[in-house]
Amino acid sequence: MASQAATADTGSGLSSGISRREFLYYVWGASIALVSLQGAGLLVWFLIPRFREGEFGGTFTVSVDDVPPINASPINFAEGRFWLVNLDSTQPNDLMYQAEDEPNPILGVAAIYKVCTHLGCIYSWTPTNNRFECPCHGSKYRLDGRRVESPAPRTLDRFLLQAIADDETTVLAEATLSEDFYEPLVLPSGTAFVRVDTGSRKNGPSHPLLCEFQGNCP
Ligand code: FES
Repeated sequence: MASQAATADTGSGLSSGISRREFLYYVWGASIALVSLQGAGLLVWFLIPRFREGEFGGTFTVSVDDVPPINASPINFAEGRFWLVNLDSTQPNDLMYQAEDEPNPILGVAAIYKVCTHLGCIYSWTPTNNRFECPCHGSKYRLDGRRVESPAPRTLDRFLLQAIADDETTVLAEATLSEDFYEPLVLPSGTAFVRVDTGSRKNGPSHPLLCEFQGNCP
């Protein structure tokens, strides 16, 4: 009997310490606390800036020596997801020229976002055709990002670009806006670097297709 009583006491720990209902309350409370902690962790993760300088979404400082020559093939900056181009439509060649509806010269350096304005594919520069071409649905763009052929609905987007002095701090000039779109920037003398802010992007405008002027739209 004595051993039976001892077995009953130690085998029902819940009844001697806490009731089943209390135990379920504790489990429920612990679950709530765990979910709350997870939520708080997610909130902190969301609030922490996800882009450090040099990463996409931040700023990139590029030596002026890495800017391409005027109307030459663009330079690819893969980490920043942009192309640097150097434009002068007054010195036309196969890559860059002035269309009939472009009354003003297109001059300066621009940073072009590497994502197609149609459905977001990554396009590339096609040197044999002297233009950007998207592999997904065939959109084509001139060196400055203007649409040559659809289905792209607009010109390629651009990032804010600044001319920086050799102290890597002083901003000598920055791209201005026209129709809420960054114009190419003519680099002033003394420019040692260009800085591209990939956190500041402007959508390209919906100008007519260039192929319409050339009479060779597909
Ligand atoms: S995503 Fe580039 S043409 Fe469709």
